[in-house]
Amino acid sequence: MAGQKTVRQEHPEFYHKTPGLVDLFRDRDRISPEQVALLPRSWYILGTVITVKIDPRVEDLKRDIGSALLSIYPRCRCVLMDRGIEGQFRVPKREVIAGSGTETVHRENGVVFKLDAMKIMFSAGNLNERMRMSRLGDDEFVVDMFAGIGYFSLPMAVHSRPDRVLSIELNPLAYGYLTENVRLNKVEGIVDPVLGDCAEEVPEGEADRVVMGFVEFTDRYLKEGIRALRPGGTLHYHQTVPERLYPGALVEDVRRKAEEQGRRVRVLRCARVKKYSPGVVHAVLDAVIT
Ligand SMILES: C[S@@+](CC[C@H](N)C(=O)[O-])C[C@H]1O[C@@H](n2cnc3c(N)ncnc32)[C@H](O)[C@@H]1O
Repeated sequence: MAGQKTVRQEHPEFYHKTPGLVDLFRDRDRISPEQVALLPRSWYILGTVITVKIDPRVEDLKRDIGSALLSIYPRCRCVLMDRGIEGQFRVPKREVIAGSGTETVHRENGVVFKLDAMKIMFSAGNLNERMRMSRLGDDEFVVDMFAGIGYFSLPMAVHSRPDRVLSIELNPLAYGYLTENVRLNKVEGIVDPVLGDCAEEVPEGEADRVVMGFVEFTDRYLKEGIRALRPGGTLHYHQTVPERLYPGALVEDVRRKAEEQGRRVRVLRCARVKKYSPGVVHAVLDAVIT
């Protein structure tokens, strides 16, 4: 174009697009296009650990997938293949497929979470709920009945300055990380970790807010969760329900348990947290209990 000057760069720097996982496999002659189509398209980075779900039809490539992911993320040290979560302690079923070192420190929203990603869950799908909890609890006495390593207690303590957060955890390993994370986030004066069964450890009629961040069996602890609240306190009741029973089933659970204690429920909000399994949603109900 008239008036435009062409400038020849001495040492031109070319932008190299970081190859994606599929790019790294596409040119490998022993990998069929069908296999390439089944390769993982997403993974989750927890500190220096990558967790990835692999389609069983390409599981024989798991070590190649692991080392390829490490080559894409040079600051990561280990890749874990994810096979889901099980049991009362919600322990992940994982396998090291590349590198080593499963203990890591994950930073999210200004909060530090130390954990062993091989033995302790950390749900990517609960990010928004962790962010939401970080905006609640100001000047309150909060009881976190299923605290884990501090998924909800820490964001709340770091960003909202509650008076006190009683963080109850049954799994000694998770409790160990919870106490360490309280130190790492410098919230010793706010978060009070308790190793034990929340059914036994919750106070009675004192809490301004109760967080029940569990799934599948949460209703078994509703009596204690409601009993812990002072009149007018707020309950966050998490549960997994078939999509067709959402939100009615959660409201019914809380209404029934409250009525058994002669208490009334004012529903504030019910929302989906994440898809839990085919046809099942993880949801949370917020309600004021008078
Ligand atoms: C699903 S995890 C917490 C998930 C967390 N809310 C999140 O957002 O990712 C539930 C935690 O509750 C703990 N737990 C299970 N039963 C418990 C009980 N009766 N009392 C206290 N903690 C319990 C488990 O060990 C686990 O660490």
